[in-house]
Amino acid sequence: MDMVFPAPARSVAGDDLLDAYPWPEEARWVRAMMVTTLDGAAAGRDGLSGSISSAVDGEVFDAVRRLADAVLVGAGTLRAEEYGPMRASAADAERRAAAGQAPAPRLAVVSGSLDLPWALPVWADSTLTPLVLTGPSPDPAALTTAREHAEVVFLADLEPASLLAALTDRGLRRVVCEGGPSLLEAVVAADLLDEADITLSPVFAGTSTTPRTGGPDEVARLDLVHLITAEGYVMARYVRPGHR
Ligand SMILES: NC(=O)c1ccc[n+]([C@@H]2O[C@H](COP(=O)([O-])OP(=O)(O)OC[C@H]3O[C@@H](n4cnc5c(N)ncnc54)[C@H](OP(=O)(O)O)[C@@H]3O)[C@@H](O)[C@H]2O)c1
Repeated sequence: MDMVFPAPARSVAGDDLLDAYPWPEEARWVRAMMVTTLDGAAAGRDGLSGSISSAVDGEVFDAVRRLADAVLVGAGTLRAEEYGPMRASAADAERRAAAGQAPAPRLAVVSGSLDLPWALPVWADSTLTPLVLTGPSPDPAALTTAREHAEVVFLADLEPASLLAALTDRGLRRVVCEGGPSLLEAVVAADLLDEADITLSPVFAGTSTTPRTGGPDEVARLDLVHLITAEGYVMARYVRPGHR
């Protein structure tokens, strides 16, 4: 892969890529990781992001989440995508321990319904038991099932401020929100996003494949930090103004 901005261009791979996505020393930092098509779709015709992604996007995806404390996703994403177990390599576990972090990122799923794909190995095979963030009074039968697979956290509401406070309360301050579009939209609308790591995929997929979402009242502008390109994909890192 080539980092073409900032100049001069240079090639990046492996841990260089990890270094290209540093976690600032803020009390909390929320980054988004998403892939989008040329026509703004968040998934291909099969309703999955994998069909608009690629191995090079996958490498960046890994670099963005490797040193996170929490991977935050909406229930819609977990229902659509095959989320694998959250683990870290031995080298990353050491790196994490040196930084005072838990041995692997912790999955946090936002769901009011608790209608989640409980057969996925992400529940039982992750290093840390996943969290499920839900409302104050979920369906009792669904709650019983959820408790067999995850640590359930009850919140007064599922607004982004409440979700992120629940993570911070558990010491999870480096948060990567991997979508989907509905959850990300809510985080942006609440003005709680610090960084956007966006991959532009060189395909048109039809924008009808993107779930309909609302939007922030005002456009939220970020600063470009870098552009990496490989095989026609463009991986951009943007951060809040003033945090470069
Ligand atoms: N391109 C990408 O990088 C990317 C990334 C992720 C996902 N995707 C794609 O996006 C699609 C799923 O996205 P989505 O937007 O439908 O789902 P989503 O944002 O992952 O999840 C939405 C669900 O989250 C729960 N939720 C609770 N509080 C919420 C809040 N404040 N804001 C938003 N959601 C809240 C609700 O679950 P309950 O219904 O359980 O109450 C809601 O139905 C799939 O096609 C997936 O493949 C693409």
